[in-house]
Amino acid sequence: MSGLYEQIQESAAYIRQRWAHTPAAAIVLGTGLGSLAADIVAEAVLPYEQIPHFPRSTAPSHKGQLVCGMLAGRPILAMEGRFHYYEGYSLQQITFPVRVFKALGASALLLTNAAGGLNPRFRKGDLMLIEDHINLMGDNPLIGPNDERLGERFPDMSQAYDLSLRQRLQQLALEERIPLQGGVFVALAGPCLETPAEYRFLRTIGADAVGMSTVPEVIVAVHARLPVAAISVITDMCLPDALTPVSLPEILQVAQQAEAPLRRLITRLVATLPAETSAPSA
Ligand code: HPA
Repeated sequence: MSGLYEQIQESAAYIRQRWAHTPAAAIVLGTGLGSLAADIVAEAVLPYEQIPHFPRSTAPSHKGQLVCGMLAGRPILAMEGRFHYYEGYSLQQITFPVRVFKALGASALLLTNAAGGLNPRFRKGDLMLIEDHINLMGDNPLIGPNDERLGERFPDMSQAYDLSLRQRLQQLALEERIPLQGGVFVALAGPCLETPAEYRFLRTIGADAVGMSTVPEVIVAVHARLPVAAISVITDMCLPDALTPVSLPEILQVAQQAEAPLRRLITRLVATLPAETSAPSA
């Protein structure tokens, strides 16, 4: 069996054969947030099961394909459907696509997710720019032997979320008059939502929003030196003293309502990335 490095190269070669561009960005579309893919002028759509070594998506509302094409005149890759720890994948499997995006020459990674709001100033449907995170998944995608070709053993996490991307997103949100909260995201393994006592704990330790994804991808992006930004859609409020039951259809509905401003923001951000200047990487 080939090692991780070889698998990444095989996967990247497969994509490159079907789409000969260097992506300006790779975008991961979170729960209920797939419609951004419609803005992309698709040039190749690759089902995950056909890409060597890619895991397969099992989560409801996640399609499971890599859309390759143009957005705002830039070549981009979009994951329609992401992989979650609660589906039974290892964190190494979940973050494999991030490794492939880096190998393809992507210069930024943009992540979206649906999250529960812990900050009482937030409202259902708000967008939150993730400024920092707390990893409570009980696991880490970098556990195991470190391949120095992919990154260093002890990556620094003092500024995991790229400052320049964050500043641009804040500026663009102002220009577009899109309210954009900022805060700390905490990731748990899931799949159950949290108890009131857990929400109280998560708020106490400094989190503004809670979800079951994103943090593994960010850790691997930092390891790979791939600048990363992430935005949460607050799909439900998780206030321990005023908690009401929440269902997946409700979460999906709120995510869909928040999609229009999120799409605008991401498209504007992509337009700030350098256009393709050189020939695609060989
Ligand atoms: N917890 C609570 N509410 C949520 C989550 C979560 O992980 N994701 C979306 N809404």
